[in-house]
Amino acid sequence: MPGLHSIETAGIDELRALQLERLKWSLGHAYDNVAHYREAFDAAERHPKDLRTLEDLSRVPFLVKEDLRLNYPFGMFAVPRQDVIRIHASSGTTGKPTVVGYTRNDIDVWSDVMARSMYAAGGRRGDIAHVAYGYGLFTGGLGAHYGAERLGCTVIPMSGGQTEKQVTLINDLKPRIILITPSYCLSLIDEMENQGLDPRATSLEIGIFGAEPWSDEMRVQIEDRLGIHAVDLYGLSEVIGPGVAAECIETKDGLTVWEDHFYPEIIDPDTGEAVPDGEEGELVITSLTKEAMPVIRYRTSDITRLLPGTARTMRRIERIKGRTDDMLIIRGVNVYPSQVEVELMKVAGLAPHYQLEVVQQGNVKGIIVHVESVDQIDPDTAGDLAASATRHIKENIGITVDVRVESPGDVARSLGKAQRVVDRTR
Ligand code: DLL
Repeated sequence: MPGLHSIETAGIDELRALQLERLKWSLGHAYDNVAHYREAFDAAERHPKDLRTLEDLSRVPFLVKEDLRLNYPFGMFAVPRQDVIRIHASSGTTGKPTVVGYTRNDIDVWSDVMARSMYAAGGRRGDIAHVAYGYGLFTGGLGAHYGAERLGCTVIPMSGGQTEKQVTLINDLKPRIILITPSYCLSLIDEMENQGLDPRATSLEIGIFGAEPWSDEMRVQIEDRLGIHAVDLYGLSEVIGPGVAAECIETKDGLTVWEDHFYPEIIDPDTGEAVPDGEEGELVITSLTKEAMPVIRYRTSDITRLLPGTARTMRRIERIKGRTDDMLIIRGVNVYPSQVEVELMKVAGLAPHYQLEVVQQGNVKGIIVHVESVDQIDPDTAGDLAASATRHIKENIGITVDVRVESPGDVARSLGKAQRVVDRTR
């Protein structure tokens, strides 16, 4: 029966030895079978055989999104195409999607790490799991689906959208677990309320949230309104999909990286130098067991820090602060949308539906924060709420923004990942 895997609680020496053995294999596999890696390693005068310790990885060249684009669609595959049994793709904002491939064994590993993630979240064999991540090329739906089946759950493959029907199915089929993006979950809760239902009274006990940044303040609000435990789930298509790291329900203190399959590093995004554990920077991941499309030192663009293990031996990452490409520089101050979210949620009367509009104000960029009020309110009250949010943002982030309080339902909703930034200056 799937439960805690022995490696999750093994000693650190055993884990590091396993990682080194697997890392050597992964580097050799990539070098021997993918022209891109061979050329990049040769150009840097590196060879997989030079790697003797885990620290030696810091001298290996990075893989960036652009490399995947240049090798579109199948150029990064390390096995014959016939051995690839599944394709997924992540929709880039521009141009062609990034295509990723899986062997049968890769799907097996993915199912295992997702089952492990769900177990860490408190899911158990026999639970009913409602999957509201999108099914299709996006890795969320099918990744969660295979993991839930592997754990031994009864899976409801609902996908995203059809919000009314989601509510009906939750009421009738009584799932214990829901897997969903935090922003779409808020729409679901609103829909329950619109239907006159008490969201706290559903059968749901655990929510497994990911695919987009969210804050601890958002966690508290979701837990409170839905009467569940809300835990974080991280992953990305290039590395495997959801299930790279997951939060343990007993600690809720960041996400345990499943380090026996994905080796994490943090680098300074400007210099590319590795930084010590505990320091903030860009997460870089190396796959240790992936066959179809190994990733060696993939720059995720995600900003976080590495922390020591707590509920498991493996290290944790702190909740993702944002993506380097979503970082706004407003009069010299670096700002992530998730930081604005934290401040908005301090203001009673404001709803967690928001979007940042970046505009040109003379020679500098400015932000208009569009945020909904919880109830229909008069202009004076809206002005008070806006002033309060502006003050919190000024005091805690250090920038002056223009907050516009909109009526309930007026800020664009998503059925999956929320679009937090609309940049009018591009
Ligand atoms: O979003 C995989 C996934 C699906 C993860 C469902 C969790 C749950 P992509 O579409 O390739 O894959 O997008 C990956 O989404 O680099 C992060 O920027 C962001 N992201 C994913 N999970 C989190 C999270 C899926 N828990 C990109 N917190 C990543 C913050 C997240 N950002």
